[in-house]
Amino acid sequence: MKLVIGSDHGGYQLKEEIKKLLKELTIDFEDWGTQDARPEDYPIIARQVGEAVAAGQFERGILVCGTGIGVSIVANRVHGVRAALCGDVFSAAMSREHNDANILCLGGRVIGCGLADMIVTTWLETKFAGGRHARRIGLIDSLE
Ligand code: RB5
Repeated sequence: MKLVIGSDHGGYQLKEEIKKLLKELTIDFEDWGTQDARPEDYPIIARQVGEAVAAGQFERGILVCGTGIGVSIVANRVHGVRAALCGDVFSAAMSREHNDANILCLGGRVIGCGLADMIVTTWLETKFAGGRHARRIGLIDSLE
């Protein structure tokens, strides 16, 4: 799986922690910034990551801002993106199984590294269930 990760300053620290996990899991990923804790506008990075995933350049994306809310709002404006803001493991699993989420959004000022690692691992490992859920994804796509 090829993955892209990005954050603003509010998510920078957690992004760096998640990168360590991705390396341990031998996930092939690119870091599209930001590269330090200086203020960065989250709509810019979230749009870039969203468009790259929607275009098929990457299978999945992870976005981190302070709350995860800003990046999820932006990413979900991109046609073909199904971004899920997750603060617990159950939601992470369901976002894959039922929603076929292709971008995971996290709040760097909301959750700690331990929980984030469990959420990311679950989100990466859980497969889309298809069936009736595929029909519902089709209904989402018809809105766009
Ligand atoms: C930046 O201060 C903060 O607004 C941003 O990281 C994010 O939480 C927005 O939703």
